[in-house]
Amino acid sequence: SFSVVALVWLPGQETAIHDHVSWCVAGVHEGAESEIRYRLAPAIAPGSSARLVATEEVVNGQGDVCGFAPPGDIHKVRNSCRTKAISLHVYGADVSRLGSSVRRVYPEPTG
Ligand SMILES: [Fe+2]
Repeated sequence: SFSVVALVWLPGQETAIHDHVSWCVAGVHEGAESEIRYRLAPAIAPGSSARLVATEEVVNGQGDVCGFAPPGDIHKVRNSCRTKAISLHVYGADVSRLGSSVRRVYPEPTG
């Protein structure tokens, strides 16, 4: 019913913008991870589509812990330090059975 995943990030390595299949608690073991959080803003005109708006950027260093639970869990994560970063993630789902903790991937916002 849950999974523990260790992620090793090279300097500058990053994810796409995504959300998740379940809650997650993550702790940084080594290095630093930057996280940009987004919200999905409704369409502003008929015929247009919802758009991503960046809401905050958080840098988690060694020993920091963060967490989230859907909905409202859209983010992008990046190794923002000059060395490798290692983090431990606990997900509330069987990631090995699902193949991924990612529910959806979003295109980068423009403009
Ligand atoms: Fe994520």
